[in-house]
Amino acid sequence: MAKIFLTRRLPEEGIKLLEEHDLEIYEEDYPPSKEEIIAGVKGKDALICLLTDKIDAEVMSASPHLKIIANYAVGIDNIDVKEATKRGILVTNTPGVLTETVADLAWALLMAIARRIVEGDKFMRQGKFKGWAPLLLVGADIHGKTLGIIGAGRIGRAFARRAKGFDMEILYYDKKRNEKLEREMNARFVDLDILLKESDFVSLHVPLTEETYHMIGERELKMMKKTAYLINTARGKCIDEKALVRALKEKWIAGAALDVYENEPEIEPELVNLDNVVLAPHIGSASYETRSKMAIMVAENVLAALRGEIPPQCVNPEAK
Ligand code: GLV
Ligand code: GLV
Repeated sequence: MAKIFLTRRLPEEGIKLLEEHDLEIYEEDYPPSKEEIIAGVKGKDALICLLTDKIDAEVMSASPHLKIIANYAVGIDNIDVKEATKRGILVTNTPGVLTETVADLAWALLMAIARRIVEGDKFMRQGKFKGWAPLLLVGADIHGKTLGIIGAGRIGRAFARRAKGFDMEILYYDKKRNEKLEREMNARFVDLDILLKESDFVSLHVPLTEETYHMIGERELKMMKKTAYLINTARGKCIDEKALVRALKEKWIAGAALDVYENEPEIEPELVNLDNVVLAPHIGSASYETRSKMAIMVAENVLAALRGEIPPQCVNPEAK
């Protein structure tokens, strides 16, 4: 029987698979503090954590026999993977199962900001609707426009495929070409500046790395069309949030729809006073089906590591 620390209770489908082991679960509905994570990891063989938990050398030092850090997320920017590799600790994530679900949310955000759904909802609840009017909550068309995708990995491609029914032109920027995307969607591979200048909707689907940190700042926002919208379901730190506030206030762009923030759970205070932004609380993968699949995937990764195997979703197999 191995000892496993979970920094939160996950959907039952995953917990069930781990039942033969000794589980310690942090049962609150908010992230544990650093001290609580360290105390939890003490003496454990496996750690199951969330993207809100910063897992660094100090945490890893809490248990000399820690074999695996299994993140309940596809992004792994919360984990010092280099440090884990040095210590022979395997790190896993949950790719694939959440791809389509995150792409769905990116579209929900895109449509919500373009057609002013959230503003409209507020308007109704405030009892302001006095009847149909020619200029009431007029927004932007989506169909026939140009969609700019930054990051053409699994999620970026799934997001692009959803544009099929909207008859859109697709531009994408990535470090490398994605020929499948070009074939499927007739997508055009362009450099970032061209994408920013030509797109009506720009959506981010990159992981957070040193290269993608603040990849959208003042310069990039000023390059976008005044009528364009920015969508972010990737990581908040990819955008300079202070610059984005200025862009929205001074109308360098038409609007933004965000699921992620630079310093979660804090957000730039001025964002909440702006009408041209839609704000979601990091719920990209939050469907019943996907959160269950992620829990099963996390459990399978942990079980494999405990059996001495390289887990299926291992990001650092060289650690073994
Ligand atoms: C969510 O943001 C994830 O990385 O899974
Ligand atoms: C993440 O899953 C991606 O490759 O887009």
